[in-house]
Amino acid sequence: MDTPDLTEASVAALVAAGVAAFEAAATTAELKAARIAHLGDKAPLILANRAIGSLPGPERKDAGQRVGAARAELNKVCEERHQLLADAELHERLLAERVDVTEPDSYFPTVGEPHPITALMDELADVFVAMGWEIAEGPELEAEWMNFDALNMGPNHPARATSDTLFIDPIENHLVLRTHTSPVQIRAMLSCDYTGRRRELPIYVVCPGTTFRADEFDATHVPAFHQLEGLVVDKGITLGHLKGTLDHLAAVMFGEGVRTRIRPSYFPFTEPSAELDLECFVCHGASVGNPDAPCRTCNSEGWIEWGGCGVVNPRVLAAGGVDTEIYSGFAFGMGVERTLMFRNGAADMRDMVEGDIRFSQALVGGAR
Ligand code: DAH
Repeated sequence: MDTPDLTEASVAALVAAGVAAFEAAATTAELKAARIAHLGDKAPLILANRAIGSLPGPERKDAGQRVGAARAELNKVCEERHQLLADAELHERLLAERVDVTEPDSYFPTVGEPHPITALMDELADVFVAMGWEIAEGPELEAEWMNFDALNMGPNHPARATSDTLFIDPIENHLVLRTHTSPVQIRAMLSCDYTGRRRELPIYVVCPGTTFRADEFDATHVPAFHQLEGLVVDKGITLGHLKGTLDHLAAVMFGEGVRTRIRPSYFPFTEPSAELDLECFVCHGASVGNPDAPCRTCNSEGWIEWGGCGVVNPRVLAAGGVDTEIYSGFAFGMGVERTLMFRNGAADMRDMVEGDIRFSQALVGGAR
């Protein structure tokens, strides 16, 4: 091994170089690198220290003291510098994370708005209020009889399976979370005013409300959703009145001239019954059989399924205490989520319940 150069001058030079490097370090990371260079295993001072043993006796002692003092000096300077830089970095970080509770502008409270579903239910109901209809309400925790039996859905109707309906206290009190807003039809017919007198006929009511099914939670199903129900009971009511009402609703919701179509179907509570389709308000049918101009809104079918409707089954009128010799009626029901989906282009129903304000903001500033 070479005789190490441990004269006073060269040790002082090593110390000076180390001190200069430590002082030049602007961050703790840079200081760490400088420490490795000047005090690490491969630093000249440390290597020299290891070689002290090879020096002749009298020189060894002096050199040992010099190197020991030099290391102590460098360690001290490095330690002090580290304290300084670490403090500065902590300060920086705290400043960056600081919350200034006295700063008014950036925390100015914004006024909330109704959820898009709530807003749409109000909008739908308004169309009917403008025609002089009433808003009817019913409980979400509903009597099984109102939800099924009174609507001509017998004890064996498949919708009454526990796989579809959420039963609450089925043995004692026969309650369900209502699976549709149709029981409000019965409640409207049976309802009394404050004197206890039955509601007078005719009846023109809509009921927007929350409904529940033992459904999957996916892009097109959520277990708690919303419907808009309509019921008219009057003299001489025909399917024509139903069609005219729905055309009007479609025009207000989707634009003047958007038509509806009713297509034969089956519901226990209406006879005849129909599916209610909405003319595609984007392509107005132009995409049908025209592969060059496909329409995503209606899948190039020209029509969109919107809900169900029909002439109220006399059994339902009878359950509501209405004289079927004198009165007839029509009813309809549609999904509010569906309406929002194709009117505002919301693609995934789960977004409607997840409570992310960005969804609501996008819809408010969205398609309409
Ligand atoms: N209650 C039906 C459902 O949830 C929708 C419905 C269909 C309501 C026909 C009606 C109607 O009033 O006449 O699927």
